[in-house]
Amino acid sequence: MAEGKTARLHLEGKDYDLAVLSPTAGPDVVDIRKLYGDAGVFTYDPGFTSTASCDSTITYIDGDKGELWYRGYPIEQLAAQSHYLEVCYLLLYGELPNPDQLLDFETRVTRHTMVHEQMHYFFRGFRRDSHPMATMVGVVGAMSAFYHDSIDINDPVQREIASIRLIAKVPTIAAMAYKYSLGQPFVYPRNELDYASNFLHMCFSVPAEPYHVDPALSRAMDRIFTLHADHEQNASTSTVRLAGSSGANPFACIAAGIACLWGPAHGGANQACLEMLREIGSVERIPEFLARAKDKNDPFRLMGFGHRVYKNFDPRAKVMKESADEVLDLLGVHNNPTLQVAKELERIALEDEYFVSKKLYPNVDFYSGIILEAMGFPTSMFTPIFALSRTVGWISQWKEMIADPQNKIGRPRQLYVGAPRRDYKPLDQR
Ligand code: SDX
Repeated sequence: MAEGKTARLHLEGKDYDLAVLSPTAGPDVVDIRKLYGDAGVFTYDPGFTSTASCDSTITYIDGDKGELWYRGYPIEQLAAQSHYLEVCYLLLYGELPNPDQLLDFETRVTRHTMVHEQMHYFFRGFRRDSHPMATMVGVVGAMSAFYHDSIDINDPVQREIASIRLIAKVPTIAAMAYKYSLGQPFVYPRNELDYASNFLHMCFSVPAEPYHVDPALSRAMDRIFTLHADHEQNASTSTVRLAGSSGANPFACIAAGIACLWGPAHGGANQACLEMLREIGSVERIPEFLARAKDKNDPFRLMGFGHRVYKNFDPRAKVMKESADEVLDLLGVHNNPTLQVAKELERIALEDEYFVSKKLYPNVDFYSGIILEAMGFPTSMFTPIFALSRTVGWISQWKEMIADPQNKIGRPRQLYVGAPRRDYKPLDQR
């Protein structure tokens, strides 16, 4: 970071010079690390709309230009030319792998896709109708009860094996959660299949008959994984970093990230978006729902629209929209009524003054659910798929934080607006 620029704060007759740090790309930051010590004041930023929580080399987002880079590579190029495990390598290690490095990495991940056999018993404790995200939070967190040889965060070798285990096993756990909800037997991973094909196989094959993974669907699945792999300091990634800053083991941190992602304002939006599109049901009902989205007294929001950072098109949504057309044509469901409603809703919303003025564009969750539904997934599996895709981003950000010599426990302060100091009043005096 280039240094030299300063910002001056004038407070109660005194001036405080704060260093301004310049990034590779994006806005400068005002370094306030010494502000409380020097000036005795906190900054105030609920929701962190103007706060950089860390410095990072992993992912860059430009909300105005609608740009997303993984380690400097634009998402459009990676979605078109790379594949998910290569993107995992890039996010984890910072550079694209050469052929030997890629083969070694893919082999290491493949050889860790099975879970400890006793983990099957965890599922038995859940109701069959449990949401798969509830199951994933529980079982991923429980990995720390099995993989004791990869929970010492101070040992880089253990950090590496924990990273590989999580990337390899979270899809298996997600598929197991799905199978458990169906009352079908768990399907073991197959080492001859690529990552996305293996996931589809574990979700959709049954022991009673052969299952053929359609290469085109596998490519679409792989592209969805790539588009969701990382996204700077979003809510769930910040959760993983905060949990990791206390020294919690990587499995516990990723379970915390899964829990945060579940919310409908975040990763849960893909499920909520498809359920909303189904509720709208026909293009004729779109105006009714747009009116509700604009009504301040109605908590309803247009799911799949808007973003804290993107005030232009979410570049992932553009790629996802193209993929939706391809997958639905491939499956012969191009006149899918939900897709028709989605496209018409997008067209109308992007012309509507309310959405234009508030810069509310479709985000990554707007089209993903349409593809996943067409591929045969129930809406309850949409966020688990987001979670397994994002595991590499969470673990890459966690590794970056743990390896940072400046790393310390995250502990925000507050603006206290509660009761002033007062003495206890005995019961007979109240
Ligand atoms: C993800 O952070 C990430 O990077 C997340 C993510 C990732 O990859 O990790 O990109 C994944 O979470 C995508 C977002 C998925 N969520 C949704 O689709 C849910 C619907 N969207 C909204 O809840 C909302 O847009 C957020 C939560 C995504 C962003 O909220 P902000 O930035 O805090 O914006 P805001 O709530 O302050 O809204 C600004 C204005 C408000 O109106 P005013 O108070 O200014 O009058 O826009 C309105 C909001 O009411 N608004 C919407 C809206 N989103 C915002 N109005 C109607 N429908 C919406 N979807």
